[in-house]
Amino acid sequence: MDNDRFLRALRRQPVDRTPLWMMRQAGRYLPEYKATRARAGDFMSLCRSPELCCEVTLQPLDRFGLDAAILFSDILTVPDAMGLGLRFVEGEGPVFDRPVRDAHAIEALGVPDPETELRYVMDAVRTIRGALGSRLPLIGFAGSPWTLATYMIEGAGGSDFHTIKRMAYDAPEALDSLLAKLAASVSLYLEAQQRAGADALMIFDTWGGVLSPADYVQFSLEPMARIVEHLKRVAPETPVILFTKNGGQHLEAMAETGCDALGLDWTTDLGSARSRVGTRVALQGNLDPTWLLAQPARIEAAVARVLDSYGKGPGHVFNLGHGILQQTPPEHAAAMIEAVRNLSPAFHA
Ligand code: CP3
Repeated sequence: MDNDRFLRALRRQPVDRTPLWMMRQAGRYLPEYKATRARAGDFMSLCRSPELCCEVTLQPLDRFGLDAAILFSDILTVPDAMGLGLRFVEGEGPVFDRPVRDAHAIEALGVPDPETELRYVMDAVRTIRGALGSRLPLIGFAGSPWTLATYMIEGAGGSDFHTIKRMAYDAPEALDSLLAKLAASVSLYLEAQQRAGADALMIFDTWGGVLSPADYVQFSLEPMARIVEHLKRVAPETPVILFTKNGGQHLEAMAETGCDALGLDWTTDLGSARSRVGTRVALQGNLDPTWLLAQPARIEAAVARVLDSYGKGPGHVFNLGHGILQQTPPEHAAAMIEAVRNLSPAFHA
């Protein structure tokens, strides 16, 4: 790999400067993304075209100097392949035509075969891998079973999660069986992405932080731990990153799964996270994405605080604490990237 800073940092090996990528680095804040998306029609048609996925994956790499590419796709491809009928409604986000509401519906769900039912994603990985050559590592990803289940049971995003929580309390065995099917599906899906050319794998647990601590362990962490165990058996050299948004209180338990790195949102202090788990895992994060709405001249100081908070030495991947906002002016992202390039070598001297 010509640029292996990202993979080295995930393995906590020395680097010349802190590697950097941005969650949702390909997306609507970029005019070139909007142009490709308009050509594709809707978002899922874009996801189903390996050539267009490759084009948008490369767009932020061509514009900025980033240290990793991330597959352009979505976490909801897996429940879509399970037959739920995914649609993205303009201004509303993802919606399933056939949400899962009871044990009967869960019983009927299958575990998708990645090379047939999710072939378009594997073709996108192969196409992007070919286009990148040895230039940069490629991150493959999936949603955590809990996060996928929230969309599958609620039928749409952004609620108080009362439907899935009621199932957790009234029918925990039904929810456990759904989470077990999802853990099996995501394990095979990530394994297939690795075989198709992904160099690191990330699990997005966007909604694990809405659970009580005990429920987090049962419904979010346990299924993720099964996936990590599978990946470490089939692809032990491939780094795995776990990201639970608002999961700062669970870092020790997350590190225990055997993953290589933890993604942090901005509500957790990087320095204290490092003293808690930094000898076991690398850390990725954690600038509040809202900072990129501030004046570029102010962004450098915010970057400096993130770098200072982690401190000197290996094991840090700079990132935002969540996806880049679509209102972000691309020049502001460029100012952050410039600041990481200029300031971070001093932390690796
Ligand atoms: O990081 C990257 O550049 C890779 C692409 C990526 C997308 N979605 C593309 C996308 C990744 C890693 C995801 C993950 C994802 N998808 C998550 C977990 C990460 C997180 O942000 O918490 C979640 C919860 C989803 C589900 C999802 N997909 C939502 C809630 C939305 C937004 C709906 C909206 O209209 O705001 C999507 C759509 C989506 N996924 C877009 C992109 C670029 C926007 C679609 C568009 O072009 O209209």
